[in-house]
Amino acid sequence: MTNASTEHDPLPLIQAHRGASKDCPENSLAAFREAARQGARWIEFDVRLSADEIPVTCHDASLERTGNNPVIIREHPATAIVGQDIGHVFDHSFRNEPLPSLQETIRLFAELGLQGNIEIKSISSPAEEELSAIAVCECIRTHWPDDKPLPLISSFHWGCLKKISDIMPELRLGYLVEELPDDWKEKAAAINSYAIHPWHEPLTADQVRSIREEGYKVAVYTVNDTARAHALLDMGVDSIITDVPAVMLESLSSRT
Ligand code: G3P
Ligand code: MG
Repeated sequence: MTNASTEHDPLPLIQAHRGASKDCPENSLAAFREAARQGARWIEFDVRLSADEIPVTCHDASLERTGNNPVIIREHPATAIVGQDIGHVFDHSFRNEPLPSLQETIRLFAELGLQGNIEIKSISSPAEEELSAIAVCECIRTHWPDDKPLPLISSFHWGCLKKISDIMPELRLGYLVEELPDDWKEKAAAINSYAIHPWHEPLTADQVRSIREEGYKVAVYTVNDTARAHALLDMGVDSIITDVPAVMLESLSSRT
């Protein structure tokens, strides 16, 4: 699986943040299945490296919050991380819901016809950011189906995105920012970014206009209030990343 389709899915109106993460344990296969059932076509999810540099699907550096387990992901091999219970803390009905690898996540997305916004988390050091980028690219090259448009890769770690733009320029990139930094235009241009992914709260209509004028799409996180979602779309935002895909899809249905 080395020649995945270079055709691109247009950004959807909504992306399910960590899956249907209000209803299921975040970043779990159950959350991805539920998001698909609710009608989401795109899922944003987080990946980070194990000690043996295997990308696993998880937001935090440890399993403390989601698994009541102090294990640090980057300090243990994937065999000790993948499959850990990330369900019981959310609700006992999800007991034994396993933490998935990126490979398993890709397999489920292929089965369900889902598209991915793969957010790379990393330790903030240039070497770590590059290692993360290389490992995720390798996993995509090996496991992403040939006949499916490639996923979008996003990160707060500009060094990660820069490395990806060097080694797999066919991937679309989303440059994640809490607030637009002064040098955002230079940073986005240097990685040939496809989109900017700002935190929605401080974002202004002028900023959205300016991003779009530079030719980038805008995907905002994390919006669970439907009135705010409508306001953002009115400002020219292209895609809303949300924990509540069914609620958003229902509210935004008139705009599709
Ligand atoms: O990709 C958007 C959003 O997920 C970024 O923040 O902390 O939820 O990963 P976080
Ligand atoms: Mg994320």
